Amino acid sequence: MRQKYFVFKCVAASFLFFSGILIAGDQCITCHTTVVGDKPSEQFQHDIHSKKGISCADCHGGNRNMEEMEAAMNPKEGYKGVPKGDAISQTCATCHADPERMKKYGSTLPTNQWTNLQTSAHGKLSTNGKEHIAQCITCHNAHGIVPVKDPASPVYPLNVVKTCTKCHASATFMRTYNPSLPIDQGEKYRTSVHGMLNAKGDPKPAVCSSCHGSHDIRTSKDAKSSVYAVNLPGTCSKCHSNAQYMKDYKIPTNQYEKYAKSVHGTALLQKHDVGAPSCNSCHGNHGATPPGVESVSKVCGTCHALNADLFSSSPHKKAFDERKLPECETCHSNHGIVAATDSLIGVTAQAVCSRCHHENDNPKGFAAAKAMRLMVDSLSLSGSVATALVNDAEQKGMEVTEAKFKLRDARQAHLEMRTMVHAFNEAKFREVIDKGMAATALAKGEAQGAVDEYYFRRIGLGVSTLIMSLLAIALFIYIKRIEKKQAEQR
Ligand code: HEC
Ligand code: HEC
Ligand code: HEC
Ligand code: HEC
Ligand code: HEC
Ligand code: HEC
Ligand code: HEC
Ligand code: HEC
Ligand code: HEC
Ligand code: HEC
Ligand code: HEC
Repeated sequence: MRQKYFVFKCVAASFLFFSGILIAGDQCITCHTTVVGDKPSEQFQHDIHSKKGISCADCHGGNRNMEEMEAAMNPKEGYKGVPKGDAISQTCATCHADPERMKKYGSTLPTNQWTNLQTSAHGKLSTNGKEHIAQCITCHNAHGIVPVKDPASPVYPLNVVKTCTKCHASATFMRTYNPSLPIDQGEKYRTSVHGMLNAKGDPKPAVCSSCHGSHDIRTSKDAKSSVYAVNLPGTCSKCHSNAQYMKDYKIPTNQYEKYAKSVHGTALLQKHDVGAPSCNSCHGNHGATPPGVESVSKVCGTCHALNADLFSSSPHKKAFDERKLPECETCHSNHGIVAATDSLIGVTAQAVCSRCHHENDNPKGFAAAKAMRLMVDSLSLSGSVATALVNDAEQKGMEVTEAKFKLRDARQAHLEMRTMVHAFNEAKFREVIDKGMAATALAKGEAQGAVDEYYFRRIGLGVSTLIMSLLAIALFIYIKRIEKKQAEQR
């Protein structure tokens, strides 16, 4: 009797136990894990959604409490099947674009991914014209999704390059969308300092998404893009100005600070002059490496072509190459380039030439620098004298148009001299200076002539006033005399 009761109790207990599982458990998962080779349920085991208690039915619909396949995966129970095209991102958006719903799961993640994706470069329609180019699962997978900071995530820094280049390195794929878009970003990236360290397993250097963003990726021509020329220095400086982030590396973190104050930085960041270089103009976009000693002048020369040409044929070319000195940077620096002035020329303390040329060390250059400074000073002095004379003549109301033209020629020669200094050749320098001196001489001549004429006219005016006064006096005396005669006659 007791034994029977015990058996009954066991049967009852196991019945309750198993039915408990059957009723409370998720039938979608329970059944799918028994289907041999079912990848989704296998991958789902370590999915962040699974850990949050989310089920197959939250994305695919259906009734998770039904044991039978037909009953569980029944459209009448809300079963949607496998989503396609935009329905995929819309499925993810049912939670990820709904702040209230995400809060219920205890999440504080942003909820802007779907909105941002739709307005990004990837928000364009794909070639079938029905859906967007990239869906959420293109970058995150559908099953086995892990947090983005997990090294297994396809968007983790060590994997994201592969995720982006799936499309961006595929000529056949990209051609159908935008044939003019290069497909070498990944290849170039691997040659950069960022790419080489990334390949060695360092997650800190920049990857595609550090520069371009993740969901709000835009073309560089868009003023809202993180790689638009004016915004780019801020994008690079997120890391490069962050001493804490960069502490393991042996490089300075002052590039932005210096650049922002330089002639280039103020022109781009404050005057929005997109002709001035941004970080990528000198470092390249994807190949970001410091320009080598040989390539600095080529980088600067893309904009300052004349300076670079003159430098290449100057005596400094060979001298600098032999000493492994970077060409332009040696005198102008790289990030903190300031406006150049005449005081850089010569042998005084401020002059760059005196860094290398001394009376008994590189003496030929010393003599040349000294002579060039004398020429610059005499041109400046002569220019000031001529300007003062022209202003004087103008104030006296004289015609000075011609003299002003000559002054402009002199200023032009002064500008030309600033470029010609890069030939580092005394004779060539003198030619330009002579042109300027000739123009100031002519201007001085014109202005002096005008001033002389002014005084000449003043003398003329004085003489005629005198004559007229004398005539007036004579006339007065004459009239007085007539009056006197008339009075005598009465
Ligand atoms: C009793 C077992 C069983 C249950 C319960 C079950 N499934 Fe399935 N499911 C299967 C099998 C087997 C297939 C493959 C059948 C096929 O290839 O047609 C399948 C296929 C699928 C597919 C792919 C369909 C397609 O069109 O390729 C999805 C999605 C799916 N199940 C989701 C679910 C969801 C969601 C639930 C719970 C609401 C669920 N399943 C419950 C056994 C089950
Ligand atoms: C976070 C949303 C989400 C969850 C949760 C989810 N799926 Fe899916 N599933 C998708 C999406 C999106 C696709 C379409 C994938 C594609 O087009 O490559 C898909 C495709 C499938 C497919 C057919 C294609 C394939 O990859 O074989 C099956 C089967 C499937 N899911 C089963 C399941 C099962 C079973 C579960 C639960 C263990 C599950 N899914 C949980 C979103 C989800
Ligand atoms: C072009 C690739 C791409 C697409 C498409 C994409 N993501 Fe992301 N996503 C990323 C990258 C890269 C990150 C990581 C950013 C980081 O490292 O901080 C990310 C991060 C996330 C995060 C973490 C929080 C956050 O916003 O940074 C969530 C959640 C997320 N994505 C959801 C989605 C959803 C939902 C969709 C579809 C609407 C989607 N993603 C589409 C690339 C993509
Ligand atoms: C039922 C609601 C729901 C759906 C549908 C859903 N998610 Fe999630 N997702 C969540 C929650 C909740 C988390 C965890 C958030 C957290 O940890 O703060 C999450 C986390 C994530 C993360 C990891 C974010 C991180 O912490 O780095 C990614 C990536 C992600 N989801 C992508 C997707 C994609 C892709 C889809 C569609 C295929 C999708 N989700 C569908 C609710 C959902
Ligand atoms: C599914 C394929 C695919 C994936 C994955 C993808 N892209 Fe794209 N991307 C495209 C296509 C196609 C375009 C071109 C849109 C057009 O111009 O018509 C594009 C455009 C862009 C543009 C704008 C180019 C321009 O200047 O016009 C950038 C930047 C970009 N993608 C970066 C990324 C990054 C970064 C990733 C990885 C986080 C990524 N893409 C992942 C397909 C993809
Ligand atoms: C260090 C920052 C940086 C990294 C890392 C980076 N890019 Fe770029 N990318 C840029 C800049 C800057 C431009 C645009 C320059 C311009 O046209 O003004 C650009 C342009 C692009 C374009 C437009 C076409 C072109 O080549 O000009 C695409 C597509 C693109 N990047 C994709 C990628 C992909 C994919 C990766 C990862 C392999 C990546 N980028 C990594 C900075 C970066
Ligand atoms: C995600 C952070 C991050 C971003 C964004 C970033 N970088 Fe870097 N960069 C690094 C790290 C880390 C290194 C490795 C430092 C080293 O070389 O030791 C590095 C290295 C470099 C180097 C090589 C330095 C050297 O001499 O070794 C250059 C040049 C460079 N970055 C330029 C740029 C430019 C230009 C941009 C913007 C277009 C940029 N970086 C954006 C993190 C970043
Ligand atoms: C006018 C050209 C130019 C611009 C603009 C420029 N750089 Fe540089 N940068 C250089 C040169 C040249 C070097 C090489 C320094 C050397 O090797 O002596 C360099 C070196 C670097 C290095 C290596 C470490 C160092 O400081 O020597 C980093 C990192 C760097 N630049 C980042 C940036 C960032 C970030 C920006 C934008 C805020 C930027 N650069 C703008 C020319 C430029
Ligand atoms: C993308 C084009 C570009 C590149 C590359 C470039 N510059 Fe410039 N640079 C400019 C522009 C534009 C200005 C004028 C800025 C202003 O004052 O409005 C300028 C101004 C200057 C000035 C000040 C000129 C003056 O009148 O005093 C010097 C010096 C200079 N750059 C040197 C360099 C050097 C050295 C490099 C290479 C390391 C370089 N630049 C690379 C465009 C460029
Ligand atoms: C040996 C020192 C030295 C080197 C090397 C040098 N410069 Fe100069 N640069 C000067 C001096 C000195 C001036 C100032 C002239 C003045 O204002 O009187 C100057 C002026 C300039 C100016 C402003 C005048 C103008 O031409 O618009 C630019 C731009 C410039 N340099 C660019 C470069 C570039 C590009 C290189 C490399 C190809 C370079 N410099 C190499 C000494 C040098
Ligand atoms: C970084 C060092 C350095 C700076 C700065 C420098 N030079 Fe030189 N210069 C040299 C060297 C080295 C030679 C080659 C000397 C030799 O081979 O005897 C040279 C040669 C010359 C020569 C040719 C001399 C000859 O042999 O005919 C002239 C001219 C010259 N420099 C002028 C200048 C002027 C002007 C400046 C300033 C604007 C200047 N240099 C700045 C290093 C420099």
